[in-house]
Amino acid sequence: MERLLEYFEPIHYTLNLSANRNKTRLIGEATIVGSAKSHVVKFHAVDLELKSVEVDGVKTSYLLENNTIVILGVDEGRREIKIKYSLNLTSSMQGAYLSTYKHEGEKQTIIATQFESHYARECFPCIDEPDAKAVFKLRISSDDDQDTIISNMPAELVVMQDGVKRVSFAETPRMSTYLVAFAIGKFVSYESVSSHGVKITTYAGLHQNVEDLKYAGDFAAEVLDFYDDRFGVAFPLPKLDLLALPDFEAGAMENWGLTTYREIALLANEDSSFEQKLYVCIVVAHELSHMWFGDLVTMKWWDDLWLNESFANLMESYSTAKLRPELGAWDDFYTSAVLSSLRRDCLPGVQPVKVDVENVEDIANLFDGAIVYGKGARLLLMLMRLIGEDKFFAGLKSYFDKHAYNNTTADDLWNAMSEFVDFDVREFMTPWLTQPGYPVITEGKQERFLETGDKDDTQYPIRRFADDLSGHYIYNLSDGELNDRISQVSMLGKEERLRLLIDRRLLARTDRVASASLLPLIATFEEETEPVVWDVISTIIGDLKVFFEPDSEEEKQFKDFVKRLVSKNYARLGIKNSKSDSSDDVKLRPIIMGLMLYSDYSNEFIDKIEELYGKVDINNIDTDYRWVVLHALIKSKDVRSNLFFKIYQDTPIPELKSDLSGALTATRNHDTAVSYLEALKDGRIRAQDRLGFFIRIARNHLSKKEAFDWMYENWAWLAAEEGDKTIAEYPRYSASLIRTEEEKKQFHEFFEPKLEDRILTRDLKVAFAEIDARLKLIKSDRDAVIEALKKN
Ligand code: BES
Ligand code: ZN
Repeated sequence: MERLLEYFEPIHYTLNLSANRNKTRLIGEATIVGSAKSHVVKFHAVDLELKSVEVDGVKTSYLLENNTIVILGVDEGRREIKIKYSLNLTSSMQGAYLSTYKHEGEKQTIIATQFESHYARECFPCIDEPDAKAVFKLRISSDDDQDTIISNMPAELVVMQDGVKRVSFAETPRMSTYLVAFAIGKFVSYESVSSHGVKITTYAGLHQNVEDLKYAGDFAAEVLDFYDDRFGVAFPLPKLDLLALPDFEAGAMENWGLTTYREIALLANEDSSFEQKLYVCIVVAHELSHMWFGDLVTMKWWDDLWLNESFANLMESYSTAKLRPELGAWDDFYTSAVLSSLRRDCLPGVQPVKVDVENVEDIANLFDGAIVYGKGARLLLMLMRLIGEDKFFAGLKSYFDKHAYNNTTADDLWNAMSEFVDFDVREFMTPWLTQPGYPVITEGKQERFLETGDKDDTQYPIRRFADDLSGHYIYNLSDGELNDRISQVSMLGKEERLRLLIDRRLLARTDRVASASLLPLIATFEEETEPVVWDVISTIIGDLKVFFEPDSEEEKQFKDFVKRLVSKNYARLGIKNSKSDSSDDVKLRPIIMGLMLYSDYSNEFIDKIEELYGKVDINNIDTDYRWVVLHALIKSKDVRSNLFFKIYQDTPIPELKSDLSGALTATRNHDTAVSYLEALKDGRIRAQDRLGFFIRIARNHLSKKEAFDWMYENWAWLAAEEGDKTIAEYPRYSASLIRTEEEKKQFHEFFEPKLEDRILTRDLKVAFAEIDARLKLIKSDRDAVIEALKKN
């Protein structure tokens, strides 16, 4: 791909942006000072209406080619280029965009930005490449002088004149374009100051309650100080903002000094569920770690994106575990990073952590949560445990000191680390990062593990075998070893128990281990009380569901098995919180209740929930298990759907919205379930929530067929509406629901012609392999599983 940095090295941008009164347009003027390296100079610009281009004060002609502005006949050396332009604002959730909400019956609009990975060019002309670092001076005005205007840096000067508000911001340090940000709108806010003196402000729209900002704001202050100390390099900006936006494509974004979030990723209070508090801490800790990994030191090119995301994914758990031990952040790491990476990394066609990036489409395709985040973080945890935390962080400090305000490749990291490590880190880590997959270890020998049973002779460096969860490999234990472990399950450490379950779960997807053997395995965990172990058991139960037709006799037998499995914990925990609960009890209860609800074909559990919660105001149900209660209530009486869907649309509280969306789609009424498909298109469900809602509709067996048909019929519309990353997730997630040859056939018929579409290629290939493996497994293992049910 052509790199524009070769033609012109930007040093300083002055950006003047003004928003009109109804926030439909921005008028812009970008003055870019830098060094011309050739007579041709090019800038990225997408959907900008250009008015004029000047070079050193002289109006110049220019061409527009492939989303770049091409200026010919420029003298080499230091030049000042001024570009006047304007742009229309839409709710696309990328570039500068509009986010809207209702407050006291009135529509409110926020102008916000999302520039990663390559959308700064949709807001201002620039060299939109991560190593084209420059200083940014922003001046922003709004025709509504009641607006708050924020950006990466603090305001230096605010002028109000004739109803217009103009804010001039302090210059940024040298930084990448994808991290520039601003927001214009009306907000509630909460201020805190970190012990190290950084002013932290947490913002949300007027429809939100200020009380819901404190939890994240206070944690942000602590975690920022924690990183200052742990990395040995202080956060360099005078202030840090956290802004919750009602419309946001990703989960959150690490713009330097102005981090942005989905509302669900930032808003919480003391009454929020454990899960919600943990999620907010994890997301905030993730984005704030990027203030170092990504913002202060940035990858040279997108192929080393893992230098950003793998580290942030490790640090989110590391810091949250230290600062909020009661939340169990490492447990979350095990069930998300570890589980998701093992699950995806055994499929042929999966990407390695470090991927070549040749096209713009490749950039959008990079952010594979299971690989660049999950696997990458796991590999870093492996390295951290191998060399020890102190040496690991000493290496990082040296890396930050050397490369602050600059760009790096993997080698820069290994060079910094190698000062503290007595083996060749580069040689050890490179194969793990550049090769896809992981090995299965049988009697000390490794072989790449592939769910499809394919053979592949890739080898992976292993320095020591460990029973904890840090090594990205699985063990194929001999029968003797397996029985030893099972007979002493209560003596094993938590990570060992998890490993046992996780490894067996993966092996059972191949012909190395029979699926039926998972039943007696999980049956030995009846007395288990660790929530994270139950999370994995619950995942295994989810896997086993593929063997049973909905509502069949076999499924009932399986449900009876599940009911027996949870009976001890259910008897102990019940369906209501209690003063004597330990934090583990609080975390475990919703998992057990969820499994009770799944196994409840006789309505016994649902009737109990109806009795206890049927008349309770949903705002008064304990948030830790509210989602299960709402599911049960909808299953109990579908007539509640109208009311619940109305609350879903009207409530500003993201945690309640999320609980409701799961419940609504779990209905036992076919027509109700199918009716939500329409809501995906008519605006009743926000674009940011569309994919999640769609998958939930498809997961309900009553509306599954209609959901798939809807996806196929509306594909053109979806492809136009969704961002590049999101659109590829439709086949990715829907593939995981395919159970029959008929479903497979339709999926292939529809998606095979789209294999050439670069945005979809990888996800489709992996999806095809995954579907084949699953159908094969159902065929080969189904009878034995059903047989085994009779014995367990
Ligand atoms: N840098 C990403 C946001 C992002 C992702 C921008 C993809 C552009 C494309 C951010 O740091 C991030 O990783 N957010 C996560 C949440 C996090 C807690 C795992 C996300 O958006 O899911
Ligand atoms: Zn990130």
